[in-house]
Amino acid sequence: MQEYPCAIKALLKVVGKGKSLDVSFHASDSPLSKQIAYGVLRHYYELENIIKSLLNKPLGKKHLDLQLLLLAGIYSIDHLKRPKHTSVNAVVDAALALNKPWAKGLVNGVLRQYIRQKDKANSLNTVAESFSNHPKWLELRVIRAYPEEAKKIFEANNTQAPMILRVNLLKGTRDEYKKALDEHKIESSWGSLSPTSLTLKAPSPIESLPNFQEGYASVQDQASQLIPPLLNLTSGLHVLDACSAPGGKTCHILESCEGLKVVALDIDESRLNLVRENLTRLGLACELKASNLMDYKPSIKFDRILLDAPCSATGIIRRHPDIKLLRRDEDIDRLALTQLELLVKAWSLLKEDGELVYSTCSILPTENEEVINAFLASESTALPQTINVSWGRAAGTGRLLLPSTSSLSANTDGFFFARLKKTTL
Ligand SMILES: C[S@@+](CC[C@H](N)C(=O)[O-])C[C@H]1O[C@@H](n2cnc3c(N)ncnc32)[C@H](O)[C@@H]1O
Repeated sequence: MQEYPCAIKALLKVVGKGKSLDVSFHASDSPLSKQIAYGVLRHYYELENIIKSLLNKPLGKKHLDLQLLLLAGIYSIDHLKRPKHTSVNAVVDAALALNKPWAKGLVNGVLRQYIRQKDKANSLNTVAESFSNHPKWLELRVIRAYPEEAKKIFEANNTQAPMILRVNLLKGTRDEYKKALDEHKIESSWGSLSPTSLTLKAPSPIESLPNFQEGYASVQDQASQLIPPLLNLTSGLHVLDACSAPGGKTCHILESCEGLKVVALDIDESRLNLVRENLTRLGLACELKASNLMDYKPSIKFDRILLDAPCSATGIIRRHPDIKLLRRDEDIDRLALTQLELLVKAWSLLKEDGELVYSTCSILPTENEEVINAFLASESTALPQTINVSWGRAAGTGRLLLPSTSSLSANTDGFFFARLKKTTL
C-alpha cells in the first residue's frame, strides 16, 4: 500500500519545491498514486478549505506532508470509487510510512469526523456552487476576461481531459489507425476539428497502442493539432519552429507536408533531446538547434516561422492541474514581455512575404491578443491574417479556443493562434 506515500512525496515536490507534477513521480509509482496526486491538485483549494474547517489549529509548515496526506484522504473519500473506510485505513497507515506514527490518531480522527459530518448532512456541501478551485488571482483574471464563460472554464479545468491521438498520415490514414485501435479493443472517435485526431474513450497506456513505437501515432491534444494548416505549408519551404521542444508541433509539421526544410530550435538542450526522440520514433528528420532564440543568427531567412511561445499554460490546466499552484500573478506580465521580445526577434528572421504563426496554450489576453496588438502597433511590416475557420472565437486579430467539457463543442485544451504576414514596405 505505497500509493499514498508515493503520492505525498510527489505532491511535496510540487507544493513545497515548485516542481511540476509530471517530473515529480518515480517510474515505479502506481497509476493510483498518480490519480491521487492529480486529484488532490484538481480539488486543492476546496480540500484545503475542508481541512481548515476540521482542524482546531493549522498544522505547522514542517508538517506539510501531513497536511497533504489529509487532503489526499478527503479527496479519496469523496472521489475514489471504493469504500470510505478502505481509504481511511490506507491514509492512516501512510502516516507511519511518512515516519510520523504519532499522527495516526490525528489523521484517523479528522477523516472519520469528516465522514460523520458528511453522513449527517447527507452531503456536506462545504463547497459553494460557485467555488472555482483556482487561486484568487487566476480566478479574477479569468472572470475579467470571460465573465460569461468563466464558470464553464473552471469546470473544464477541474475535469480530467480525454486522451487524444494524432495519427501520422505518412504511415496510414486516420480510418486505418482507428480500425487498428478497434482490433486492440481500444474505443476511439474522430476529433471534430483536426483531420489527424482520434479521441480515446478511455486513456490507454502508450505501450498498448498499435504500432506506437513504429511512429503510427502520437499523443497530442486536438487544439495543438490545428497549427500546420495555419502555416500554409508547401514543399521546399524553410521553416523555423522557434520554441520547439518537446517537438509535438515540429513533428506534426513534418508529417503534414513532405520536402520541408525545418529547423527545430529550443533554448533547453535536454528538452531538445525529446524532439530528437520523437523524430526518430516517427521516422522524420530536421535540423535541431540548441540556442536561445534571442541569440540565434541563421545564415538564411525563413519562409515560415512558428512561435509557440513559453506561456502560463493556463489553457492546459485540465492536463496539468499543478499549474494552479506553480504560477503567480506577477508571472503573467513578465511572460508577456518575453513573448513580445521573442516575437520581435522571430520577425527579424522571417523573409519578406513570409508568414509567422504565434501560438500559446494560455487563455489570458495579456499573453495573446495584447502581445499581438503591441507588436502590430510597432511593426509596420506585419499584416494580421484572418484565420478563416469554424472553430473557436475571434480574439483580437487571432483565434481562441477555450477549454471545455461539453461534448457538443470540440472538448479541446485552451489555445490561442495568430497569423501574421510580412509585407514589403
Ligand atoms: C510551449 S513550449 C513549446 C512546445 C512545443 N512547440 C511543442 O509543440 O511540443 C515553449 C518552449 O519554449 C522554449 N523557450 C523558452 N524560452 C526560449 C528562448 N528564449 N529561446 C528558445 N526557446 C525558448 C522552452 O524551453 C519550451 O520548450
